[in-house]
Amino acid sequence: MLSFEDNEMMCRVGPGTPMGELLRRYWHPALLSRETPEPDCPPVRVKLLGEELVAFRDTDGNIGLIDNYCPHRRASMFFGRNEECGLRCVYHGWKFDLEGNCVDMPSEPAESNFKDKVKITAYPVKEAGGMVWAYMGPQDVMPRFTDFSFTNVDPEYIVATKTPVYCNYIQSIEGNIDTSHISYLHRNLADFQPEADPKDGTDVLGYPSGKMSTFLRSNDRVPKVETQATSYGFREGGIRQTPNGHQFIRINCHVFPVTTFVSFLPWQNRGALIIVPSDDDSCMRYSVFQNPEAPIPEESRQAMIANNERRDENGLRLMNKSNDYLLDREAQRTTSYSGIAGVGEQDYAVTESMGTIGDRTREHLGTTDDSIIHLRKILLKAARDLQDGKPPPFQDEGIDFDQIRSEEIIIASSEDWKNSGTYAGESEAAHSLVS
Ligand code: FES
Ligand SMILES: [Fe+2]
Repeated sequence: MLSFEDNEMMCRVGPGTPMGELLRRYWHPALLSRETPEPDCPPVRVKLLGEELVAFRDTDGNIGLIDNYCPHRRASMFFGRNEECGLRCVYHGWKFDLEGNCVDMPSEPAESNFKDKVKITAYPVKEAGGMVWAYMGPQDVMPRFTDFSFTNVDPEYIVATKTPVYCNYIQSIEGNIDTSHISYLHRNLADFQPEADPKDGTDVLGYPSGKMSTFLRSNDRVPKVETQATSYGFREGGIRQTPNGHQFIRINCHVFPVTTFVSFLPWQNRGALIIVPSDDDSCMRYSVFQNPEAPIPEESRQAMIANNERRDENGLRLMNKSNDYLLDREAQRTTSYSGIAGVGEQDYAVTESMGTIGDRTREHLGTTDDSIIHLRKILLKAARDLQDGKPPPFQDEGIDFDQIRSEEIIIASSEDWKNSGTYAGESEAAHSLVS
């Protein structure tokens, strides 16, 4: 439960709001690289932290992210001509480069120096991990780039997708760190039929197969949830008992403010969900998968993109509130807990069903909501501290973002999950890819 005031502070992200100012002090994905596939290709509309922007790839192949509104008479730069290293407004021909400089103003007399006095807002960007990241805060306090495992590798080893979610970003993040819901929302009746683990046998110490993991999540539906503070944010451990008396641990790592390494088998530990506010009532869910061992075959890549980006011609998700996410009551009775097809769609249905900004004054959090409470506390504290002139947290120079991994593992009943897996500053535990 949260007060109305705290809920408002946490959810509102426009320019000048406490949380909006805090979020602007971190790098965020603004679009996918493949949305601007080649030099001088059509510009792309971007909505980020309540601001309307336009991205374009110039003649040299570099990306720019500028205000949607031309500083002359405010026409949309989306209609612009992307040519000769700049985006030219089609209304009167004013042209801007990647830094926002006005490099041509053909509608003014040749001797005028007016163009030297006009700029369009332009944000610094960086391409990494199949995404274009932007920094929208003050230039003099720009933090170093968060170089995760998936931003440091050849793009062939990763797949990045994006999906619009029609609710406030916090609701979506809370879903990612809500580790108890996977025993319910994402359950199929078939999950109760475990197969012997092809790698290690069934229910033994070590990394389980995907099938075994699914069984263990379904088998113990009352996980203990614990939160561990780290230098980059926090880790949460979902602890479930196994039939053999071990502990099945699911560790998700939350990198402040909006990135969660959510454990998904088989590429369990290097994938992340990044939830970026578009505005107060919607967000973009960037999903990154990384196979550390081999390039991802084109066919698998396309299948993942098609699965994550099911949209109509207007970019709206095909399964949405207006069609009740294609809920199938018969499937709900016979094969799946939710009756909704697709893990992502199941998440969207429940998080969007709360309303675009859920009323947290009326909720009743239980013992499995520990990490959600923790997230809210550190977000609100950071926003208030920033208002008091303190620097944003979780940005220490020593943080090794590249080493952050989620984890699913079976450990002995006597072990503490907090000693398992990796977090910033520690070397990577021996991992092998299981399928
Ligand atoms: S409104 Fe853009 S050039 Fe006039
Ligand atoms: Fe989920």
